[in-house]
Amino acid sequence: MVKRLLILLLILGVTPLSAQKAKKEEENKMQWFKDAKLGIFIHWGLYAVNGIDESWSFFNGYISHPDYLKQTNGFTASNYDAERWVKLIKNSGAKYSVITSKHHDGFALWDSKYGSFNAVKSAAAKKDVLTPFVGQLRKNGLKVGIYYSLPDWSYDDYTHFKRDSLRYKIAEEPKRWQKFLEYYQGQLKELSDNYNPDLYWFDGDWEHNSEEWQAPKVRKMLLDRNPNTILNSRLREEGDYATPEQGMPITRPESKYWELCITMNNSWGFQKNDHDYKTTDQIIGIFSDVIGNGGNMLLDIGPKADGTIPEEQVEILEGLGRWTNKHKEAIYGTIAGIPKEHYYGATTLSKDRKILYLFVKGNPGGEVVLRGLKNNINRIWVVGNGTKLSHQVVGKVYWSHYPGIKYIKVPEYVLDENMTVIAVLLDGEVDLYREDGAVIESN
Ligand code: GLC
Repeated sequence: MVKRLLILLLILGVTPLSAQKAKKEEENKMQWFKDAKLGIFIHWGLYAVNGIDESWSFFNGYISHPDYLKQTNGFTASNYDAERWVKLIKNSGAKYSVITSKHHDGFALWDSKYGSFNAVKSAAAKKDVLTPFVGQLRKNGLKVGIYYSLPDWSYDDYTHFKRDSLRYKIAEEPKRWQKFLEYYQGQLKELSDNYNPDLYWFDGDWEHNSEEWQAPKVRKMLLDRNPNTILNSRLREEGDYATPEQGMPITRPESKYWELCITMNNSWGFQKNDHDYKTTDQIIGIFSDVIGNGGNMLLDIGPKADGTIPEEQVEILEGLGRWTNKHKEAIYGTIAGIPKEHYYGATTLSKDRKILYLFVKGNPGGEVVLRGLKNNINRIWVVGNGTKLSHQVVGKVYWSHYPGIKYIKVPEYVLDENMTVIAVLLDGEVDLYREDGAVIESN
């Protein structure tokens, strides 16, 4: 009887309540991330010296490991100015930044107690280049994200070295693997002690399974230290959000929290020979698609070995900054917009779902079209400009629920040079006609 009662209680209230609580906690923790929309990714490491693929260049055999290591002599950071970096990042409209504290090559940007392969002890820079950056992010109110590669291909007790050479198998040398686990988890503790990151951006988890990495233990360790810290998905199944890479999802990702990481040209780190930059226009277009689908964009820059940020990248960040600043009300704190059948472009919604933001690429030739919107429109204006716009409802018949088509008139002089945004204030929460348009309807 008692047992039955307990089961009943469990079914009725206790489980859902605790589940609800967990959900609420998760939502609270993820809120800043959900609202942030834009982050700047930084790939900075030895690879910037020759301008070659980060870590992969030696792993795949395009350069020998000793030659790859010689780049330590050129990693000077002589013009590095963390304050300038953060100013640029902040002005782009980003609310957080994620920096490679250590890539797969194992070179650490901070003065790690674990090993000596770092910017202080092994490179011309002879200084910790991570701490000043984190300090500036905090000073400027930006969230701190630390990228950390689980694989460490230069470390003698790590399993993988190059694509065609494995050092050992865990099953054969478990003690050696144990040594690596202590090393990498020690570094993570160090990062937690030094920087208390708001977000950990793991990478490279594909080389081992969850058990081998001790992923649940690592998650617990990091959350015990800071229950509010966010982990990306690349710690096997232990992460908080999905990380599609390079490709803008065509359909809306299922995961509630996600972040598209993307390069400005075709490289994560600085590569002198890669001039294939996306235009500011294209980046703003991709960004609109991302936020219209409820995600974040983590846009990458690759500083040079002396710490200067390439001119093309500065220009993109500045262009993006002009646009995000003008259109902030349609970006930050908004939620994913309406299905594409209703508006052929990206849209976002205010959190109360009463303002619909329409993103207009190029010159729409006088008007944009909203289909199947049941709401009446109270007011329409051009974001960051204020001009009131008029609209016309076409095809509404009195005997049907079908709401007709709304044409919003957009004069050429209100158009933005990259992407215009129109705010549509509705008479209530957005309400969409999703039926098939049958002509005969009851009442
Ligand atoms: C991949 C690559 C790595 C890069 C990362 C960024 O996982 O291995 O080089 O840093 O993507 O998302």
